Amino acid sequence: MADAGRHPNITLLTNSQVTAASGYVGNFNIKVLKKARMVVEGQCTACGDCVKVCPVVVPDEFNVGLSSRRAIYQPFPQAVPSAYIIDGQQCLGHEPIVCGKCMEACQKKCIDFNMSDEELELKVGTIVVATGVDVYDPTVLDEYGYTRHENVLTSLELERLISSGGPSQGQVIRLSDRAVPQSVAFIQCVGSRSLKRGNPYCSNICCMNTIKSTLMLKEHYPEMEVKVFYIDIRAFGKGFEDLFRRSKAAGVRYIRGIPGEIQEDPQTRGLVLTVDNTATNALETHRADMVVLAVGMHPPEQMKVIQEMLALQKSPDGFYLEAHPKLQPVDSATRGVFFAGCAEGPKDIKESVTQASAAAARAMRLMTPGKLRVEAITAEVDPETCTICGICGKVCPYQAIAVKAKGGKPAFVNAAACMGCGTCAAECPAHAITMHHFTDGQINAQIDATLEDDPQGRIPIFACNWCSYAGADFAGVARLPYPPNTRLIRTMCSGRVSEDFIWRAFSQGAPVVLLSGCHFGDCHYINANHWTDKRVKRIWRKMEKLGLRPERLQLEWISAAEGMRFAQVMQRMEELRAGVTPEEIAQTKVILAQAGLPGEKAPPAKQAAG
Ligand code: FES
Repeated sequence: MADAGRHPNITLLTNSQVTAASGYVGNFNIKVLKKARMVVEGQCTACGDCVKVCPVVVPDEFNVGLSSRRAIYQPFPQAVPSAYIIDGQQCLGHEPIVCGKCMEACQKKCIDFNMSDEELELKVGTIVVATGVDVYDPTVLDEYGYTRHENVLTSLELERLISSGGPSQGQVIRLSDRAVPQSVAFIQCVGSRSLKRGNPYCSNICCMNTIKSTLMLKEHYPEMEVKVFYIDIRAFGKGFEDLFRRSKAAGVRYIRGIPGEIQEDPQTRGLVLTVDNTATNALETHRADMVVLAVGMHPPEQMKVIQEMLALQKSPDGFYLEAHPKLQPVDSATRGVFFAGCAEGPKDIKESVTQASAAAARAMRLMTPGKLRVEAITAEVDPETCTICGICGKVCPYQAIAVKAKGGKPAFVNAAACMGCGTCAAECPAHAITMHHFTDGQINAQIDATLEDDPQGRIPIFACNWCSYAGADFAGVARLPYPPNTRLIRTMCSGRVSEDFIWRAFSQGAPVVLLSGCHFGDCHYINANHWTDKRVKRIWRKMEKLGLRPERLQLEWISAAEGMRFAQVMQRMEELRAGVTPEEIAQTKVILAQAGLPGEKAPPAKQAAG
């Protein structure tokens, strides 16, 4: 942090909040609210004279409420910049009649109560999102009595107690009597790895943090009895297993089982833990002077605000979703936005530093050439045909289409922001959008070719490039047998498959049609497959109204790793196909022709060359 503060190419905006973000890679516009510090940064030498006279005492957030601070304070000892700040919520004000003592005490005259919040507008090319984490609040787990028993602490509270700069200068003390505890018990996985209470994922750092704390306790208090209650210990990093062994060698007892309840002895304020030891199958009772809950991490609330600003995607655990878990682990799906630290999942310091370095390198790699290369598969609007309905702008997952209905200007696609999913082209009722390299004409030509000979024996499959098509590939590589009469039509995303393609396939005699894409949350174009889902449901309703069996159109989510599932779905499709009679197919053609489907405006296959 100090290095970043000194670096000539880095501007640190502390006490600031991003309030708006718009634009696209290379041209992001960011609005930042820089809150008034009331202390002139460059002048304050952090001498502390102001703190001595401030009459307001409030709990210190950095020490998790275990100590107090004044209304003028330094957030933590290594804070950058090294200057004081006034807590506007707590300060009594500068009117001499009320207070103003800090102003009087400051010899350098760097306290300025007339300072006001500033709104900054920044133009940036790339963004690194590092939103951090919050720790799990154990108050909901009533069985541990965190709010009732004074000597039950969280791992963060112990961390502050054990720190030499903490509220007790590194002395580990019980909060009930300020005595050094003779025995300490740690309970692992509090708020983590639970499907019912807390979060289902592993918080990654708690095991090693506990092992480190046990070693520190044993180093400072060799006689202290230390026990760790765990489900399993996850010590998989470099040197971590060694630390675990050292902790056990130092006399720390590891007991496999999580206590079901903590009770307090009202006389001694000691704690009694009841645990089902899964290693011995015995119900045991243990005593400890202090219990430490190894609390997990969860994504902070404010992540949602940034998510909406930058059109980011979240995974089911609530953290941001990376563009690809193996190949692009620091990229977001929005071009030019990267992740660092715990924004994308719980991480320890080493991993966070690695990811931050990778994110910075990725951002530099993008910006250094001065020009941006984009894939040629972007969308283009024909201004003559556009009816300015605004649907394309609404469905675009990247906010890459500008539609100004009021000004009467046709939709315009920003090629730098467009990722080429094709959802806009599939939803455009006027057929005004061309998806380069995946044009309507090209896809229509593939449908026609698929059903040219023996249409009743063929099964057209629309498969997205990233998951379903790769799933088919996997099935092939794994030599998994599936019916040979399926014909794949690849699109970049299932969102590209328009209603007209489905009607075209049926009107050309297809007995059944399959549309397949990535599972929800896995779509490579943020949420484009949600539009696929809505569209297919709309087609099913129309089929029902027209008297066609909706089951003849199938929708399946198949991932790249699900080769076996792909083969099974193909088998099912073949069974469905066999159940469709020539009469039903002929009847379908008549019904669709009468209904004018596919839409009259749909371009014919001869445009395929375009
Ligand atoms: Fe597979 Fe969107 S990329 S459904």
